[in-house]
Amino acid sequence: MINKKITGVIFDLDGVICHTDKYHYKAWKELADEIGVYFDEEINNRLRGVSRMESLEIVLERSEKIYSQKEKLALAERKNERYKLFLREMSPADLSDEVRVTLDELRSRGFKLTIGSSSKNAGFILGQIGLGDYFDAVSDGNNITNSKPHPEVFIKAADFAGLNPAECIVVEDAEAGLIAAKAAGMTAVAIGWAYDSEYADVSIKSFGELNLLC
Ligand code: BG6
Ligand code: MG
Repeated sequence: MINKKITGVIFDLDGVICHTDKYHYKAWKELADEIGVYFDEEINNRLRGVSRMESLEIVLERSEKIYSQKEKLALAERKNERYKLFLREMSPADLSDEVRVTLDELRSRGFKLTIGSSSKNAGFILGQIGLGDYFDAVSDGNNITNSKPHPEVFIKAADFAGLNPAECIVVEDAEAGLIAAKAAGMTAVAIGWAYDSEYADVSIKSFGELNLLC
């Protein structure tokens, strides 16, 4: 149980609400293979929560070729086109019962529910899984200039929903997101890949545990 007043829950999207993180990995891996750059799951974990262009810079750390800004934009676009092919196959069946039921329970208990995601595809993904109009506010890669670990995306999520940051918890699967949450003055809850992170205030093994936390 979190020992302070909580009025809002801000959810990361990729890897928390749904498992698009595996599609990010596949799309980056395909691109990396095409341009002959080594890429694996360990490198992929550094991309969690990080913007598309910053992710590309990490992928290209192993490249012998130096790319111009124009070429980098084209590579990022190529990865995104691949990624969107996976997203097009998503449907409400990709929202687990546990996530859906927990969200409904939190809402019925009066919490404001918002999204804080670095992704520019967040709106599309939410529509695909049947949550297009569900959240009280969505703050995503389209309304920020600084990606996680900068706190901007969460500060804006709280602002859009009229929430006091100190009364928000953030649910994250990325260390960059946990750091961002704390920099925003919020409580950082780790799930999934970030479970063991030193930056977490609290860690949960399953999404349903949120109902016991707040
Ligand atoms: C985050 C993912 O949610 O969104 C990152 O964790 C990704 O891996 C980032 O790079 C940007 O996503 P998009 O959809 O705008 O390319
Ligand atoms: Mg994530």
